[in-house]
Amino acid sequence: MRELVVGIDIGTTKVCTIVGEVRPDDIFIVGAGIEPSRGMRKGIVTDISQLTASISASVHKAERSSGFDISRAFVSVAGHHIASINSRGVTGIAGQRGVQIDDLDKAIDAARAIAIPHNREVLHVIPRTYSLDGQDRVRSPIGMHGFRLEVEVHIITASSTSIANLEQAVEGAGVYVDRFILNPLASGDAVLTDQEREMGVVLVDIGGGTTDMAIFIEGTVWHSAVIPIGGDLVTNDITHWMRIPFEDAEAVKIQHGHALPRAVDPLETLIVQPFGEGMPMEARRADLAYVIEARVEEIFERVGKEIKRSGYDGLLRAGAVLTGGCSLLPGIREVAQQTLAMPVRIARPERLTGMADALRSPAYSTSVGLLRLGLQMDTMHPIQSESNGASVAAKLGHLLSGFLRRLLPEDDR
Ligand SMILES: Nc1ncnc2c1ncn2[C@@H]1O[C@H](COP(=O)(O)OP(=O)(O)OP(=O)(O)O)[C@@H](O)[C@H]1O
Ligand SMILES: [Mg+2]
Repeated sequence: MRELVVGIDIGTTKVCTIVGEVRPDDIFIVGAGIEPSRGMRKGIVTDISQLTASISASVHKAERSSGFDISRAFVSVAGHHIASINSRGVTGIAGQRGVQIDDLDKAIDAARAIAIPHNREVLHVIPRTYSLDGQDRVRSPIGMHGFRLEVEVHIITASSTSIANLEQAVEGAGVYVDRFILNPLASGDAVLTDQEREMGVVLVDIGGGTTDMAIFIEGTVWHSAVIPIGGDLVTNDITHWMRIPFEDAEAVKIQHGHALPRAVDPLETLIVQPFGEGMPMEARRADLAYVIEARVEEIFERVGKEIKRSGYDGLLRAGAVLTGGCSLLPGIREVAQQTLAMPVRIARPERLTGMADALRSPAYSTSVGLLRLGLQMDTMHPIQSESNGASVAAKLGHLLSGFLRRLLPEDDR
């Protein structure tokens, strides 16, 4: 039996639907549909019917390429309406039976019993560390003996209306939302190594409208944030500087853009056609790079501030991992390295097989990550069964019942 999962990344630039089989060592891509996104700005829905049309087009493409009907999916969420906080919860352990799953649940329930405004909802509750009778940094207390179990959790909340609008747009395309997953958690799942997550790393997914961040330390998420600027702002700057339409500026950025002026030949020029009937204009590529560099620096300054604000700036021994479409900009790694003063690498989804060629780009990290993470967070929901392979549910069963189950809001467990 073959179990397929579906992820839909609804970005500001594109909607990407992926149908795949999550296997222990890779993800086998069965089909994908990538379509331009309309009706979304900086992670917020601005036009439901336009967005529904974009999602429908992407889903239909994925259905055609995979040959399967898509009725449900894991869906990404980002936007400035996302907020995160850390909290603690305590529970007593009765008798001498050792800590059980129920005790973890009780401690986590206590941690999430903080006042959440009525217009917000909990997306994820992620246990960071446990302590047992004052012994800190216990990773998995199950079976251990003690009287007082304490848990630290990272809670991610979203605006209820933003979520409702996104859900309406997806359901309008005939797809039931199995679970919303925060963008950088999905991207992190697709591109980070276990070692990076252990050592301490900040994942930075720079898309068109938003820059999504998550800090992973000791194997789990300690902080997350969404910054409402991305590659579109770089394109906007080029639009204003060259006085050309947005689409032309986008093409200039992708063909000639560089974030590091000193890496560009000072004599190299390009020709652009400004608005109106004006004469074609010649511009120096190095000047273009200065325009881009300024905005890219600003993005990383904001990322740096957010890292400081988290309080974990001294703990990121593996540095930063950049992904998202904007990380394709030449020179961006160097700018990030200078601004953040830490090692930086650019990452794209790895360990993909099947119809995966189009997806091996940093722009698709979120969509690929949705499949495995969604599956780990949820019970299985096969959309079709076919071959003789062992069920993914069976292979991942141990994950579902234990630690990862706790990523879910209580009502959804
Ligand atoms: N080759 C490239 N060089 C430079 N920039 C690029 C390149 N390819 C894509 N981009 C930029 O990446 C951005 C889109 O990235 P991505 O596809 O990750 O966005 P998204 O997921 O749709 O948006 P978001 O996550 O912000 O909602 C755009 O600003 C685009 O100009
Ligand atoms: Mg994105």
